[in-house]
Amino acid sequence: MTSPWTRPDAQASGTAHAPQAGRPAKAPGTAGAPRVPGVAEAAETARAPRAAGVPTAPGPAHAPEVSKSAGSPGKAVPGAVPGGNAEDPRAADGGVGGGAERTRGTGFKDPSLRRSLALFQAFLHEQEDPESCYTLLARDAADQVEAYGPVEGRVVVDVGGGSGYFTEEFRRRGAHAYLFEPDVRELGPAPAGSTVVADGYLLPLADGVADVCFSSNVLEHVADPQTFLSEMVRVTRPGGLIYVSFTNWLSPWGGHEWAPWHYLGAERARARYRRRTGRDAKHTLGENLFAVHIGSTLRQVRARDDVTVVSARSRYWPFLASAVAKTPGLREFATWNLLLILRRCPP
Ligand SMILES: C[S@@+](CC[C@H](N)C(=O)[O-])C[C@H]1O[C@@H](n2cnc3c(N)ncnc32)[C@H](O)[C@@H]1O
Repeated sequence: MTSPWTRPDAQASGTAHAPQAGRPAKAPGTAGAPRVPGVAEAAETARAPRAAGVPTAPGPAHAPEVSKSAGSPGKAVPGAVPGGNAEDPRAADGGVGGGAERTRGTGFKDPSLRRSLALFQAFLHEQEDPESCYTLLARDAADQVEAYGPVEGRVVVDVGGGSGYFTEEFRRRGAHAYLFEPDVRELGPAPAGSTVVADGYLLPLADGVADVCFSSNVLEHVADPQTFLSEMVRVTRPGGLIYVSFTNWLSPWGGHEWAPWHYLGAERARARYRRRTGRDAKHTLGENLFAVHIGSTLRQVRARDDVTVVSARSRYWPFLASAVAKTPGLREFATWNLLLILRRCPP
């Protein structure tokens, strides 16, 4: 797992899952999803060999039920935004949440300089202390989700969740959280019972079962981000929240472990990484890392009729987080990591 702020010379752990370039697009709401969401037939949809001891589906006790979510489009949702376009989460949910008021999250205001510095510090020490780094990052991301309402009792689906820090944090806050990860090498040594080995392109879930569909830093690792997004939208219930963040290609961290040399070209940057470290880089452009851009992603997401864009902002910036993501050109370099909060439209 590599954070967007991983030191360019840091060694990546594990081996990357290579997304399947050129796979056929799959429409949202596709047939083929199991009728019982999140439970059966995960084996059919899994794209990678299953780790020993890793169940293929969340435990039945917490399995989301179709009728609970998909059948109640009008039900109150975490931070449901009537009309759905509020930029201020606290305004959107009548005052629930807000970084500084939290007791179980990071306690940081978002955005704030203190928060950004703490995250940056944690990323600098990611290699020697991944536990602290990812625990903080997961708390921070869960704070961002809970700015739209509490996740307690909600179904949260973490797509491409790696070793599960985010899923674990959502569970800690009382959510029924499930990790969907295609690469068993990314999973920790003892994956939780709510772990499913599955590809984000084809989640073994029925339509509309998730209150929150969450994906952190996965979009730039898939060949077809729009299909990946469509699948996230499909499994989210009407009114539910979709959290997607990614490091865009022209970000100073766009080249991941070979950043910032990607500005000179991916091949050259990779070769430099090998010369400097004696190791092959984890990421290869066009195989498991793709040049995703902010402008085109925003245009594609805004053109969809099944989601509204609640917020598009820099995930880590200490100030002007929304403003920086609005400025064409500049945003490709200055946003660093785009956070999109989407709301699933009623059918
Ligand atoms: C940089 S890691 C991010 C892990 C974690 N979400 C985080 O933010 O720390 C990228 C993850 O995306 C996963 N991934 C790659 N292709 C995927 C796909 N098609 N569907 C779901 N996950 C995928 C990888 O296996 C890896 O765990």
